[in-house]
Amino acid sequence: QNNAPNTFTDSATGIRFNSWGLPNGSPQTQGGLTWGMSLPSDALTKDASEFIGYLECAAKDNAGWCGISLAGPMTNSLLITAWHHEDTVYTSLRYAGGYTMPDVYTGNAEITQIRSNVNSTHFTLVFRCKNCLQWDQGGQTGGVATSQGFMVLGWVQAFPSPGNPTCPSQITLEQHDNGMGIWGAVLDENAANPTYSAAAAKATKTVT
Ligand code: HEM
Repeated sequence: QNNAPNTFTDSATGIRFNSWGLPNGSPQTQGGLTWGMSLPSDALTKDASEFIGYLECAAKDNAGWCGISLAGPMTNSLLITAWHHEDTVYTSLRYAGGYTMPDVYTGNAEITQIRSNVNSTHFTLVFRCKNCLQWDQGGQTGGVATSQGFMVLGWVQAFPSPGNPTCPSQITLEQHDNGMGIWGAVLDENAANPTYSAAAAKATKTVT
């Protein structure tokens, strides 16, 4: 996928994002995937601890899940897992020491939702990810330095939905089967959001 960001404004919320992804129809993943980030206004000079994320993932026969690794690889990184069940989009923050079912993340990161949408082919979530850019899983630490203007990120998509879909801490997953990748994501000035605080304040919905 692209390294240089696209910029787009989510019309439903007015939030501007730097975004990267694979279009619907690309050979790497059926249905395509889009990931966007909006950062605090000073994030390109001072490392941010949080962001507003935009995630649009593919669904097939009303099922599927997707994931973003905030460090690139699956292991030793904060993992965002997302899926939908009926009209609700669920997330679970996870951490994996190996290439097996990731554990529930035990640090203080938190996802709250700004808006979500589900249709027959895709689900979309705009969310605040608080304390997501530095992580600590029982003493194993890592993080992203937004002031570098560059991140390494990873993505995966999968066709079957998680088991226990309405209970994020108890989902079961099979190994992803609709593509995966690691990419270098360049941030430009459009990722720095001058009205970040007001946008983050819209993240009032907690789905657990
Ligand atoms: C890659 C297994 C869940 C993110 C891989 C690979 C395996 C694996 C074996 C390497 C495949 C290869 O190189 O060909 C699993 C299993 C899972 C699981 C068994 C659950 C039962 C997840 C979740 C996420 C994730 C929940 C993110 C939210 C990634 C990413 C890669 C990857 C980004 C590509 C980068 C890398 O190779 O480290 N996974 N995975 N995985 N996985 Fe998972």
